[in-house]
Amino acid sequence: MSTGRAAVICGIGSYVPPDVVTNDDLARRLDTSDSWIRSRTGIARRHVVSSGTATGDLAVEAGLRALKSAGDDRVGAVVLATTTPDQPCPATAPQVAARLGLGQVAAFDVSAVCSGFLYGLASAAGLIAAGVTESVLLIAADAFTTIINPEDRTTAVIFADGAGAVVLRAGRADEAGAIGPMVLGSDGALSHLIEVPAGGSRQRSSGRPAAPEDHYFRMLGRETYRHAVETMAATSAEAAGRAGWQPADVDRFAAHQANARILEAVSERLGIPTERRLSNIARVGNTGAASLPLLLAESAAEGRLAAGHRLLLTAFGGGLSWGATTLVWPELQVF
Ligand code: UT7
Repeated sequence: MSTGRAAVICGIGSYVPPDVVTNDDLARRLDTSDSWIRSRTGIARRHVVSSGTATGDLAVEAGLRALKSAGDDRVGAVVLATTTPDQPCPATAPQVAARLGLGQVAAFDVSAVCSGFLYGLASAAGLIAAGVTESVLLIAADAFTTIINPEDRTTAVIFADGAGAVVLRAGRADEAGAIGPMVLGSDGALSHLIEVPAGGSRQRSSGRPAAPEDHYFRMLGRETYRHAVETMAATSAEAAGRAGWQPADVDRFAAHQANARILEAVSERLGIPTERRLSNIARVGNTGAASLPLLLAESAAEGRLAAGHRLLLTAFGGGLSWGATTLVWPELQVF
């Protein structure tokens, strides 16, 4: 096994805003029901931001917890994966770094929708591998409900808000916590499956004012579902193979919490039994980029994910974009 310079997870934290919306709450204002949402998505409740709370606020809370877990108050860079930055310009990461008291460190946002954590992990690992820095705070945070059309039952029942973060430090490829082989991909020919049509240069340069609903997030759910299952299964198998693992032999499988039925279909294709799958979608919904680190932090806190577990991670989302990687879970304190 390689012993070269690697990025090693040494801290983890997460945060969800306190306000909870149940399926019954949604059914009071939308043509939907608790039973439809539970049976089609596996979601029972979700956390949502209150008025005035932005992605950066969630990111700061998760970042604080990850730094505490790592026992660090200094890192060399901050990477923030999000689709819902506090404003279109500048990036949100520099403000988060400043609010965390991290000084004038390198800080930038990564935009890869629900694959953002894995793209952020690759970026952070690259900064460490290239010797740009010795440590990175990677935060994945989304306030998805700020871009969801509250009248659109096909998205409003799924997407929610939250944040997760990890601290990565330079270490050896053969130690627990080292990020394994990373598989990433995209298909821009299918960008229309998940989009916010307005607010960017394409719409602005057309000279036509956008319809109000074009500023909202849209998803062609049924088609996205099919691609999500096929792609997460194939990408996971590839990442496991590159690590020299059989997917069916991993101790824990963490997939982007898109939809419980998608998670089941992907796990079945990979031969991963139910008891090895990590899931919190029932309690938090689909939190975009935050989904994976939020799941890892909660699972580690509950003891479902423990030191020494061989973990396979995968995500899929708008772009289209996707990724997968492996690691052996390290000994971590979770707050
Ligand atoms: O995170 C990034 C990646 N995202 C995903 O991977 C999500 C992928 N897609 C999905 O999770 C699912 O496609 C959804 C949960 C969005 C929808 O579930 P589905 O089983 O694919 O439903 P569908 O779109 O095929 O719709 C079935 C029926 C339709 O009615 P008709 O045409 O059969 O009369 C919909 O209008 O369900 C209806 N429907 C609803 N009914 C009650 C759609 N949304 C709702 C709703 N409540 N909230």
